[in-house]
Amino acid sequence: MHFKDKVIYQAYTKSFNDTDGNGYGDIKGVTEKLPYLKKLGVDMVWLNPFYVSPQNDNGYDIADYKAIDPMYGTMEDVEEMIAVGKEYQIDFMFDLVLNHTSTEHAWFQKALAGDKKYQDYYILREAVAGQEYPTNWDSKFGGPAWQPFGDTGKYYLSLYDPTQADLNWRNPEVRKEAADIVNFWMDKGVKGFRLDVINVIGKDEKLINSTGDIDQEKSLYTDKPIVHEYLRELNHNSFGQDPEIITVGEMSSTSIESSIEYSNPKNDELTMVFNFHHLKVDYPNKEKWTKAPFDFLELKQLINDWQIGLGENGGWNALFWNNHDQPRAISRFGNDTQYREKTATSQAHILHFLQGTPYIYQGEEIGMTDPHFTELEQYRDIESINAYKQLKEKGVPHAEAMAILAQKSRDNSRTPMQWNAKENAGFTEGTPWLQVAHNYPEINVERELAEGEIFPYYQRLIQLRKERKIIREGSYQPMFLEHEQLWAYRRILDDEEIITFANFYGKPLKVDLSSEVADQAWHYLLGNYGEKSFNMTLELEPYEAISFEYKS
Ligand code: NOJ
Repeated sequence: MHFKDKVIYQAYTKSFNDTDGNGYGDIKGVTEKLPYLKKLGVDMVWLNPFYVSPQNDNGYDIADYKAIDPMYGTMEDVEEMIAVGKEYQIDFMFDLVLNHTSTEHAWFQKALAGDKKYQDYYILREAVAGQEYPTNWDSKFGGPAWQPFGDTGKYYLSLYDPTQADLNWRNPEVRKEAADIVNFWMDKGVKGFRLDVINVIGKDEKLINSTGDIDQEKSLYTDKPIVHEYLRELNHNSFGQDPEIITVGEMSSTSIESSIEYSNPKNDELTMVFNFHHLKVDYPNKEKWTKAPFDFLELKQLINDWQIGLGENGGWNALFWNNHDQPRAISRFGNDTQYREKTATSQAHILHFLQGTPYIYQGEEIGMTDPHFTELEQYRDIESINAYKQLKEKGVPHAEAMAILAQKSRDNSRTPMQWNAKENAGFTEGTPWLQVAHNYPEINVERELAEGEIFPYYQRLIQLRKERKIIREGSYQPMFLEHEQLWAYRRILDDEEIITFANFYGKPLKVDLSSEVADQAWHYLLGNYGEKSFNMTLELEPYEAISFEYKS
């Protein structure tokens, strides 16, 4: 199938490449770097939202779905980018936020002005007798999920920032608008869509209080069966009409069962799903805003469960370590100083040999790290700033709150792309909207291309996926799932097999393979410490990853 050999690159538009000196990345900046992305070997570029927006949530608060925010450029720039992309055989995946609009969107403004048609575009309710709001739900960025709707006495639902108003998908007009937006961009030649928090679009007519338990509360509006109907309708009325289009649904707190349904091609919903369970293994008791080590066994187990769950039931995984909402995996799960290169290549190795579609987040291919910010003033992200305030209210001392932000903030991955050792890492000639990480003189594209080992490793991994059907389509089986330092699995296709081993830590490792691996003529395929011959006593250096193959 066409999407199975693709590798997708995520460029966080705002931080990728600024060509006009305003301190924000822009569309022309993406076009300018297409040769670089071609060199890496990716097939598609996912761009975070660049539509007109007040930027309260960095563009996930859209005020006009069909216009480009001037800070990012013009519609002509977008058309040019798509056209130049074609020359490089690079397609684009646009990010559509269809669960909510900015309160500055014309629909919301008309609704506020009293237009009944547009009032039915949003989820407006009266407070329930005896309580302040229609329900007791919390917004995901802190505070109540309801905001006063002008002076009507009603409240509008806002599951994220108060300036992001949830759309009412029960209204067929809203669903038509959604399809119309997708079709508008398809007509411009866009070949992929990432659908923001798309599994929370199905709200019930009657909304009820939660018990106060966070999971129970989410279940009241997440993964509702109606979401499948809405997606099928959207698919039939827009992207499903072009078999070349790739879609990925960003799924908040989803399950394997629901994700099989979302991504099974038989259902005409989406191509694949992003789930986040593996990126919550450092949230003790589900609490994100605390400093905590990650649970390696849980991490492996989750990836394993999703590989098997979706792989054996007709679903399809999107594979990723990083995105703009997560701290960088190199700092989070590895060693971002002494073993930075080996951490980067071993993480890439583990992910790219799995079944699914790999996503590379900007900077991953050169081993960019978290910036390790120490001052609140260095942060821009609304969620992080709210979290800081809440931590302070709970009495957490400033230094500890800063340490928590440094570990968990979304700004960790949003710092500008490090292109070279010049001022501001070559990202902008102006003042960057978010400070560049301190280590850009050592970690940057120019240096990596000249003498680095990470970029070439990514090139090879991408190439291998294209060459080997087994990497794309082979079945997956775990090995040594209970091992506390080793990550190992096999892929099988007909008479072929690939076995992959990775030492997830900085101390050397020795394992007797005989309980899991047949002693046969295994050939070296790829490793981040170079070629080694197979041995039933496997010895791995710090952060070493290696794969062997066998064909009978
Ligand atoms: C998920 C996006 O990735 C995130 O950045 C955003 O804040 C929320 N959805 C709300 O749109």
